[in-house]
Amino acid sequence: MNSIKPINRRITVEDLETPEWKDIVLEMHSMMKVPREKMHKFAYCTDRRGLVYRAEFESFKHWEYPWLIKHGEFRPGAKILDCGCGRGILQFYLARKGYNIISVDISTLKTHQVQGFWNLMRKSGVPVTEDQASAMNGIARRYDVSIDFRVANIAKLPFEDEAFDYVYSVSVLEHMAEGEDVMAIKEMSRVLKKGGTMLVTVDFSPVKMERKAYIKEDIFKLISASGLYFDNMYDFEIQDWRKHLAELDLAFSKKNKCQVSSAAFVLKKTA
Ligand SMILES: C[S@@+](CC[C@H](N)C(=O)[O-])C[C@H]1O[C@@H](n2cnc3c(N)ncnc32)[C@H](O)[C@@H]1O
Repeated sequence: MNSIKPINRRITVEDLETPEWKDIVLEMHSMMKVPREKMHKFAYCTDRRGLVYRAEFESFKHWEYPWLIKHGEFRPGAKILDCGCGRGILQFYLARKGYNIISVDISTLKTHQVQGFWNLMRKSGVPVTEDQASAMNGIARRYDVSIDFRVANIAKLPFEDEAFDYVYSVSVLEHMAEGEDVMAIKEMSRVLKKGGTMLVTVDFSPVKMERKAYIKEDIFKLISASGLYFDNMYDFEIQDWRKHLAELDLAFSKKNKCQVSSAAFVLKKTA
């Protein structure tokens, strides 16, 4: 994993086609038993085995996860914190690779399917408990791994200072309330060890949009709030972004419905 050369520029379809990236995506698909016809689609990939509590591999994650794995260069035995883990396959994949993962989310279960299932059970007189930890442990068992899952707000992390070698967050900050995202990145920075690495991906648009997606200025605000070192090599100035999105979208499906792209950055805590 660590031998792959990092990419410090915008990701293109060619990157997605390289064997290293494809291998990561295919390995995740195969862990989840995603049917062949669903592979390479831009839509969600969900674990066929989980009727209600399913691991997910959402559209943008098909490049965000390989990007994070490549740039993380995680050391064996390292302690890694997944902030806003949802039911993303990444945490289970990394646990499979032997990393020590702690996952945090405020609510992993509030999907339409889960709500529908609970309503059905309640109507049939079966008592249901909204036990997120058991649901997440159940998913982890399907992959023969164990995850230390905690229900918490990442804007107030229940961990000591400098507890983790790596802290990452994939597509979470843009889902938080105004100002809470800044609190979250400060918290993520607080729990990161000196010499540690933080990896973040967010929905991105070069222009302000109705749907929450960060513009370049928002991202630099986050970076500066973190107080961490940013090597300034990543290109958020995406030229021809519509063309770029259409290309990426075509890599997964025939339709182009996508409105935003995603940006990613790596921050370091100086030792
Ligand atoms: C788009 S999902 C991404 C999930 C996951 N990172 C993945 O790769 O699939 C956003 C997640 O952020 C979580 N989230 C939103 N606000 C949060 C907060 N304040 N604290 C912890 N998790 C939060 C949501 O519950 C949701 O699971």
